[in-house]
Amino acid sequence: MKTTLSFSKPAELETESLVAIVLDHAQQDSGQNSKNKDAKQQLKVDTDDAAVQSVAADLLASGEVTCKPLEINLLHKPAGLKAKRVLLVSGGGGKKFKAYDLRRVAGAAVRALKSRGIRSFAFVAPSSIPAEEAVRAIVEGAFIGNFDPDYYRSDRKDQKIDALTILTSGDRTALEKAASEAQIIGESQNFTRDLVNEPSNRMTPAILADRAKKMCQEVGLQCEVYGADKIKEMKMGAFWGVAQGSDEPPALIVMKYEPAGAPDKPVLGLVGKGITFDTGGISIKPADGMEKMKYDMAGGATMIGAMRAIALLKPKVKVIGIVCATENMPSGKAQKPGDVQIAMSGKSIEIINTDAEGRLVLADGLFYARQLGCTHLVDAATLTGAVVVALGYANAGVFSNDDALYERFHQANEKAGEKMWRLPLDDEYKENIKSSIADMVNSGGRWGGAINAAMFLKEFAEDTPWIHLDIAGTAWMEEQKPWIAKGPSGIALRSLVQFVKDFAG
Ligand code: BES
Ligand code: MN
Ligand code: ZN
Repeated sequence: MKTTLSFSKPAELETESLVAIVLDHAQQDSGQNSKNKDAKQQLKVDTDDAAVQSVAADLLASGEVTCKPLEINLLHKPAGLKAKRVLLVSGGGGKKFKAYDLRRVAGAAVRALKSRGIRSFAFVAPSSIPAEEAVRAIVEGAFIGNFDPDYYRSDRKDQKIDALTILTSGDRTALEKAASEAQIIGESQNFTRDLVNEPSNRMTPAILADRAKKMCQEVGLQCEVYGADKIKEMKMGAFWGVAQGSDEPPALIVMKYEPAGAPDKPVLGLVGKGITFDTGGISIKPADGMEKMKYDMAGGATMIGAMRAIALLKPKVKVIGIVCATENMPSGKAQKPGDVQIAMSGKSIEIINTDAEGRLVLADGLFYARQLGCTHLVDAATLTGAVVVALGYANAGVFSNDDALYERFHQANEKAGEKMWRLPLDDEYKENIKSSIADMVNSGGRWGGAINAAMFLKEFAEDTPWIHLDIAGTAWMEEQKPWIAKGPSGIALRSLVQFVKDFAG
């Protein structure tokens, strides 16, 4: 999608459709749960442009518009405008309307228009949000909305918006920079979603490594891929324990971003879980829903996409991306419950459940990142079903051993407009991963399952400041929404990229 900024008057622009936002300034809350339902609406298009206000006036006065978030109204042949149509997207209550909502409005506009066969449109940037922030949110939201995962349908319509114009005003140089950075982020998020979407027969560890290599070549990153021999040689016993059961060779993917002029420290380590298919291993999963376990490499794909964005945005800070990629399969060579594995760090692990494999590959990934000199760590993983029980599909789980680093991440997370919620890592939970014959067990049981998994990882982050993101409930959209297709979401990429950028100052 080609994105351009326009500083002209909306009325003068020839386009298939203008898109503008309607807000209700009487609503205290979002449209659905307005406290005083009888309060008179105060609907207004979020723009200072009189011509756009005027085409919407009759509709807004008609009482037909509820202004529920993402409600859509399409006007044809708007009087006094050169545009063929005006699409009005409701943003809900005016007081609560933020960049977070604007991303969704932009995504919803893209999806509404492309499904009508329209390929280009112009978005009237809202006047209620500072111009630069608005441009970023519109571009990011539009790219997210433009993605559809139905690649293997022979009747794939491949409807896409090809060209987006944003009508804005202000400092052209700053706004163009905002738009191009947002495009890099949106494209990288979709790159991640493409990787996650592929089924396991088309996204083996080797294929994932090839895709990472190709991306690294394109954007000028160093990339090394290590196979089974090197994994065993480096004594990554936890990672290999998972990989040993599969006929598909594992891959340890290491991507390095070391820009000229970056200080020696910090070195940020981004470690991703790359299970290209999780059967559960010998502790095999039930058949029902098992097909979804093709997305168990979403954490790894997020790190690959984040490295792409970082390489193109060029912040002055060193970053190393590590993805531990393997299948988790049952076979005659597979590890079994009761087995003991020695992790790269030397710690011993009693395998209680071979389905708790993500933490095993990450244990070695995190330790290896520290060996490579990382001073701060972030991992992302579709780690536990328990995080879905705790937080549902709306929030990803965040864990940290360092409050200051958590604060930094939280700031980045807010700016990026992704929902995440911190869960605790108190010492009490360590009881749950005690083993009678080894340093720890790999499964702490059902209660507090997401925390038990994080406590396990903490043993391998040790004293390095570390953030763990459990994205099991958020990496896959269970149903389509007006702003995003059903399927891979690309969650966490934007927060990670923002976090890295903020480190560069
Ligand atoms: N990949 C799964 C977690 C998962 C569940 C991801 C649902 C996405 C959606 C992980 O490897 C797993 O199997 N976890 C087990 C851990 C248990 C055996 C301690 C779980 O959550 O049941
Ligand atoms: Mn599993
Ligand atoms: Zn898994």
